Amino acid sequence: MSDVRIDVQRDSAEVTGALREDVRAGLLAQEKWLPSKWFYDARGSELFERITTLPEYYPTRAERDVLRVHAPDIVAASGARTVVELGSGSGEKTRLLLDAFTTSGRLEVFVPLDVSESALAESAGALAADYPGLAVHGVVADFTGALDSLPGASPRLVAFLGGTIGNFLPAERAKFLSSVRSVLGAGEWLLLGTDLVKDPDTLVRAYDDAAGVTAEFNRNVLLVLNSRLGANFDPEAFDHVARWDARHERIEMRLRARHELRVDVPGAELAVTFVAGEELRTEVSAKFRPDGVRAELADAGFTLRHWWTDPRHRFGVSLAVAHE
Ligand code: AVJ
Repeated sequence: MSDVRIDVQRDSAEVTGALREDVRAGLLAQEKWLPSKWFYDARGSELFERITTLPEYYPTRAERDVLRVHAPDIVAASGARTVVELGSGSGEKTRLLLDAFTTSGRLEVFVPLDVSESALAESAGALAADYPGLAVHGVVADFTGALDSLPGASPRLVAFLGGTIGNFLPAERAKFLSSVRSVLGAGEWLLLGTDLVKDPDTLVRAYDDAAGVTAEFNRNVLLVLNSRLGANFDPEAFDHVARWDARHERIEMRLRARHELRVDVPGAELAVTFVAGEELRTEVSAKFRPDGVRAELADAGFTLRHWWTDPRHRFGVSLAVAHE
C-alpha cells in the first residue's frame, strides 16, 4: 500500500484571482511584465520538462551531476526525517535524493510542493508507489509569497533546486529566504540549487534553443491568460527574446510584439495595446557567484555548510543550516 495524499491550498477561483491581480499590475506598468510562475499550467510544465532534455539547457544535467555525487553527503550531514521540495515539478531529481535518503537515512515523509496540480499529482503518485514506507504528502501551493507552516518531523530539509531561486528579484529573494528560515527551527536545513555566472553565449543559448521549445514555453504564458482570463492573445504575434543582462547578471525572457496590436483581457477588466516591437518581460533568471550565495544565505539566517559544483562549475548546490 502506498501512502500518498495531496492538499490543495487554493482553489481554482483563488488562483484566477491572483493571476488577475498580477496581470493588472504587470500589463498596466510602463514596462510590461508578468511573473514567471504563470508559465506552469499543464502544458507549460510539460514544455519545461522538454526544455530540461535539450542539448543547450545544461542546468538540469549539471545539477543532476552534483546530486548524483553528493546525495549521500546531504543525507549524512542533515539526518533529515522530512524532505520538503519546493517546485518539485516532475520529481526526477527528487529520486536521486530519495534514493540516498532511503538507502542510508531515516527519512519518513516527503513533501513535494508545486504550483502545478497536474505535475504534482503525477509525480506524487509515482513516488509513493516507488518508495514504499515513505509517506508522500503533496501540497499544491504558490510558495513565492510567504511559506506556510510545513508538516513533518524534525529535522526537516527544504530543497529548492533547479535554480528557480533565480526567478526572484533580489528583494523577493531576500524575503523568500527569510520566510523559509522562519518556518524552520534552528538546526534544520536548506538545500539550494543556483545556476552560476558563465559566458553569455552559453547562457543565451540555454534560453533560446535551436528547436524552439523555449520559445513555445515563453508564449505559453499568453495561452494561460487566454484560458484563465478569456484574453485574446495571438501567441504567433510575438517573438521570443532571451537576453543576458550583464549589469544584473541575469537572463531575461521577453515576448516582443511583431506589430502594433490590441488585446482584450476581460477576466482582468483590461484592454492593452502594444506598439510594434514592444516587449513584455516574462521571466528573469538570475545567475549567481559563490560568495553572493553565501552572503544571501547568511542575511536570511542560514550558515553555509557545504558548497558543491559540477566539474565544469556551471551549477552550484548549497547545503545550509538554520542558525539561532
Ligand atoms: C525552472 C525556473 C529554473 O529559470 O532556468 C527554463 C525556467 N525558463 N527555460 C530557469 C526556464 C526558460 C527555469 N527554472
